[in-house]
Amino acid sequence: MRSRILGTGSCAPQRVLTNADLERMVATSDAWIVERTGIRQRRVVAPGEACSDLGIRAARRALAAANIQSSELDLILVATCTGDVPLPPTASVVQHGLGAAKAAACDVSAACCGFIYALSVADAFVCTGYRYVLVIGSEVMSTVMDWTDRNTCVLFGDGAGAVVVGSTEAECGILSTHLHADGRLSDLIHVPGGGSSLPPSEHVVAERLQCVKMRGNETFKIAVKTMEEAIREAVADHGFGIDDIDWLVPHQANIRILRAVGQRIGLPPERVVINVDRFGNTSAASIPLALDEAVRNGAVQPGQVVVMAAFGAGLTWASGVIRW
Ligand code: ACO
Repeated sequence: MRSRILGTGSCAPQRVLTNADLERMVATSDAWIVERTGIRQRRVVAPGEACSDLGIRAARRALAAANIQSSELDLILVATCTGDVPLPPTASVVQHGLGAAKAAACDVSAACCGFIYALSVADAFVCTGYRYVLVIGSEVMSTVMDWTDRNTCVLFGDGAGAVVVGSTEAECGILSTHLHADGRLSDLIHVPGGGSSLPPSEHVVAERLQCVKMRGNETFKIAVKTMEEAIREAVADHGFGIDDIDWLVPHQANIRILRAVGQRIGLPPERVVINVDRFGNTSAASIPLALDEAVRNGAVQPGQVVVMAAFGAGLTWASGVIRW
């Protein structure tokens, strides 16, 4: 027996923030953003719209696609680094919102790798007897942006994606996940303040230490290297070659990272699912959001090999292989 994805769903907030909008906020240009990142627009939440709101909407769509009632869920995992509040877990808010009374609920924090980390937890629980596990990646990155810092504020967006995981005795399903971390690089992408090491204060807010700081150039190089390693490790584990990958669904950080990875592993661009141009980097939401689009538009077909790969703050990197 193995686990498989029974249904996918996603949710993007209504408000579109274009590069032209950003030109009016910081010293940047549409040309610079498109050339360096491939991003043309991103979605941002309305005031009061929280991580759980996006997650619940994505989850409802995934449950409908899987034809599963929320009351049947055994476990809800929310991968996020921008939860509603520090306490309780956002997964509890989602559990209540969905009316999933018998589901256990907790959050998974692994930045942009959060969805693959959470999917690996779901896989393990399903393989040991849980019937249905809901995995959500949901982020409201706009709330941790310094909107005066052009180095970061042009890169990120808000959104959510969700999958329902159940068991199967067929040949399809989640074949493997591989998870990695290197804490020595934890200051490459980080939010320095607002947590227990530097609690919220006037100083934290004045210096915008509750916002994402990133050494972009170093991150770029490490991202290409770790994504390549993650994909090679993922396929080698099954005796697959790169040619066996029907779809690569990568973490959507930057088009140049995705192109560089594709070139290094020799995967044609038409087999890489890309939506960073429309959503920017939505951290833990990016893979399930892209996967849901690829499933709903009919690109991903039964029997195909789908490889997911991500890197992110921590530093974390991860991969997953699914036979759809
Ligand atoms: N508009 C115009 N100019 C800009 C902007 C902007 N938005 N941002 C930076 N610049 C300027 C810089 O100030 C710098 O100017 P200078 O030469 O006068 O000092 C110049 O552009 C070049 O800056 P670099 O940082 O070297 O530009 P680079 O080519 O590396 O592109 C980028 C920057 C897009 C951030 C790139 O490094 C990148 O994509 N890195 C990876 C980011 C990423 O994937 N992060 C993942 C986050 S994962 C998570 O968990 C949150």
